[in-house]
Amino acid sequence: MMRLDKYLSERTGLTRSESRKAITKGRVAVNGVVCRKADTQVAEDASVAVDGSPLGGVYQKYVYIMLNKPEGVVSASRDKRDTTVVDLVAADFPRRALFPAGRLDKTSTGFVLLTDDGALAHDLLSPAHHVTKQYRVTLDTPLTEAMRAGFAAGVTLADGQRLAPAEVEPAGEDPCEVRVRLHQGVYHQIKRMFGVYGAGVNALHREAIGAVALDPALAPGQWRELTAAELAALQKA
Ligand code: URA
Repeated sequence: MMRLDKYLSERTGLTRSESRKAITKGRVAVNGVVCRKADTQVAEDASVAVDGSPLGGVYQKYVYIMLNKPEGVVSASRDKRDTTVVDLVAADFPRRALFPAGRLDKTSTGFVLLTDDGALAHDLLSPAHHVTKQYRVTLDTPLTEAMRAGFAAGVTLADGQRLAPAEVEPAGEDPCEVRVRLHQGVYHQIKRMFGVYGAGVNALHREAIGAVALDPALAPGQWRELTAAELAALQKA
């Protein structure tokens, strides 16, 4: 249950005061009956109409957005200089406090999950949960057996930090094209892991988070909400 003015504001993008005005003017009906009290408690599955038009869809407590992050965009909610991943979707979610659940470097591309569900984001990022993230990486030198074996054993970074085992394998004919699966998240992890072997990263693209793959129909900068099955898969992870 929640207050009618809050419900209306979250569902329509009206501000709370605009919502209250619409309600007190008698423009809002709940389950077919005009309701002029902004503090009326309404169920999340109530049928609410404004000026006789039902609000479409079912109320969503949280939103979950799959974004294909383009290069040059920063993984933050707000930034003084650069466009952020939240800027790319904000116009469609004016009342939501969205943030990226996990970061990609400014130069990296691919799957960023945007949400306002702090509990799910916490679980996906928590070291205890080991949610796998899969990347397609273009190296400036061919993949070697030493890299493969080192990733599998657990790389020790230049600063002495010992990482959990990870996987790297060829991603096609080109020996510089590889696929990496990580089970933890450390700042600049992939670049630093390859750096241990003297290899540079020319491009890095996140293909999947847990069992959910980035939708290939999404061009860089495009996004869509997760399907119910995708959300269930992340909640299970
Ligand atoms: N590892 C990196 O080095 N960069 C990313 O953006 C993601 C993982």
